Amino acid sequence: MGRTIAKIVGVAGYVPEYRLTNAELETMVDTNDEWIRTRTGIVERRILKDKTKASSDMGAEAVKQLLKKTGTAPDEVDLLICATATPDMLFPDTANVIRDKVGITSGFGFEISAACSGFLYALTTGARFVEGGLKKVIVVGADKMSSIVDYTDRSTCIIFGDAAAAVMLEPTDDGLGIIDSVLESDGSGRHLLYQKAGGSLHPATHETVENKEHFIYQEGRAVFKYAINGMVGSIKQVLERNGLSKEDIHWLVPHQANKRIIDGVANMFDFPKEKVMVNIQKYGNTTTATIPLCLWEWEDKLHKGDNLILTAFGGGFTWGATFLKWGY
Ligand code: UT7
Repeated sequence: MGRTIAKIVGVAGYVPEYRLTNAELETMVDTNDEWIRTRTGIVERRILKDKTKASSDMGAEAVKQLLKKTGTAPDEVDLLICATATPDMLFPDTANVIRDKVGITSGFGFEISAACSGFLYALTTGARFVEGGLKKVIVVGADKMSSIVDYTDRSTCIIFGDAAAAVMLEPTDDGLGIIDSVLESDGSGRHLLYQKAGGSLHPATHETVENKEHFIYQEGRAVFKYAINGMVGSIKQVLERNGLSKEDIHWLVPHQANKRIIDGVANMFDFPKEKVMVNIQKYGNTTTATIPLCLWEWEDKLHKGDNLILTAFGGGFTWGATFLKWGY
């Protein structure tokens, strides 16, 4: 028997119905389908139109589906971690709102804020709790990005979409689980990708609203370079310290921020296209949901024992890579 690690035993996702197409964006800002497709790879993204619904509602849908799929009763769940960049409120945290919405009263929950790397950070954290003795841990990424996007800013409004997706972790000693993670961060990049106002530094005022400081601000070109370098660096470390070569990897599961970034990372390692999960054309950048949404979509194509490398880069900056063996 090997050491106890955390195995992914199920995955579920939720995307809102409304499709915001490139054609519709053309009517909103000075952009065009060709530019968006060639510069980002995005064709459409889903938007949660219902103003009464938040990130937690999408997270709750994904978690309900996950519980059903894995035959888990709500009160069997020991821990629920929610990664999000768009919490329902600054507090209480979104994890506990989701727990309430799906009827989980056992155990505990908390939120992780690491922007687009949030799911990787949360997955790694959840895995440690399983290694420490918890039996059922849910990790959910949920982001209503449309709530912080300025739909008059063509450099950001074309990128983001709304979604949630979740995985269930359980202990295993068969080696088929989360084996290793490299997580990195550098706060000096915080001025290149952020939401300026709404926190304790710049609480909401008429001025912050007028200055559009509650929306995402991104210096895309600068972030682009950091993103490729960061993910490539983390993947290299994970491959090296686990004695893996690129041939050993069955699937690369990259954060979906830009198709050109994904291609750039994959090309650095010569990963063939067929081994790289890409669904950015359908959903855009859903921040913490991109990676589990890919796992959800590819679930039928995955085989027990497949080697997966997950990688992400996001505001902070935060980035990293996780090596796992698929468990079912
Ligand atoms: O997920 C978290 C981490 N985030 C990322 O990884 C995102 C990283 N960055 C990116 O994906 C890209 O930088 C963007 C998609 C945001 C932008 O693409 P880009 O190729 O870096 O474009 P750019 O900002 O360098 O702009 C090139 C040109 C500019 O015009 P000029 O100055 O060359 O005349 C922009 O004004 O494209 C213009 N432009 C647009 N044109 C049509 C910017 N946005 C648009 C647009 N439609 N939507």
